[in-house]
Amino acid sequence: MQLEDRIKKVKEVIKQWKKEGLTVGFIPTMGYLHEGHESLIKKASEENDRVIVSIFVNPIQFGPNEDLENYPKDLDRDTTLCLNAGADLIFNPDKEEMYFDDFCTIVNMNGLTENLCGKSRPSHFAGVCTVVSKLFNIVTPDKAYFGQKDAQQLAVIKRMVRDLSIDVEIVGCSIIREEDGLAKSSRNTYLSKEERIAAIVLNKSLKLAKESLEKGERSSNNIINSIKNTIDSEKLAKIDYIQVVDALSMENIQEIKGPTLIAIAIYIGKTRLIDNFTFKM
Ligand code: PAJ
Repeated sequence: MQLEDRIKKVKEVIKQWKKEGLTVGFIPTMGYLHEGHESLIKKASEENDRVIVSIFVNPIQFGPNEDLENYPKDLDRDTTLCLNAGADLIFNPDKEEMYFDDFCTIVNMNGLTENLCGKSRPSHFAGVCTVVSKLFNIVTPDKAYFGQKDAQQLAVIKRMVRDLSIDVEIVGCSIIREEDGLAKSSRNTYLSKEERIAAIVLNKSLKLAKESLEKGERSSNNIINSIKNTIDSEKLAKIDYIQVVDALSMENIQEIKGPTLIAIAIYIGKTRLIDNFTFKM
């Protein structure tokens, strides 16, 4: 497995692979990898001849008071995980390699990015779309793998690829969880012992909501209220949002009729955690 930090070098390697007729799978990440990322890399290595993982904590997708400075890093551990999961190359550029001092091109998306995490983090998806389209231009993958954990991000990337005619297949992958149901996340490491226990409330509230949907509940308000009640029972939890949206448009819906995303963002102490599930009738 190769570790590269230069765009030019990565392009050369990929050009050679493509010359040999090899297919390329790509997993963009911000590092501090866990089993969630690992599942994407493994899937990519089953479906492609070569697999590239990018590790880049993208500054432009973080808001002014977010955790950019504290975002966890461990390149040695990430390298071992990538190697064992079947990656062929890690692209680990620094900020200067990715963004010129006078960098001024932003990929902006309306609509899909205005609700949910886009509402709480106004410039977040412009930062994500910009870095992911730049990475797609560097890697030119046949397939790129994204987790359902960040459901809005997955929908946004699919739409960007469609709207800008980017030649890549976007593969959505299921959420990998801890034994107690908490979705794996690099940010879980911020949690104290007490907060880690409190964080179980995210998945617990969604499980209850899923059960009532399965029993026939179709009112978004009732679903939202049931999630709210569960979250409110946990003292360390503070709600950012609880929303029931159309799974394609990400717009709020009142009555559940078609594929629906039930998504939540909660603060446990200072740590913002997200979780979701899609309900298909
Ligand atoms: P990051 O948070 O590192 O996540 C990289 C990929 O791993 C995303 O597609 C995310 O949805 C997926 N992932 C994270 N936790 C997961 C879990 N528990 N189960 C399944 N998949 C999971 O998302 C980003 O980085 C960035 O926004 C990025 C796309 C790299 C752009 O900077």
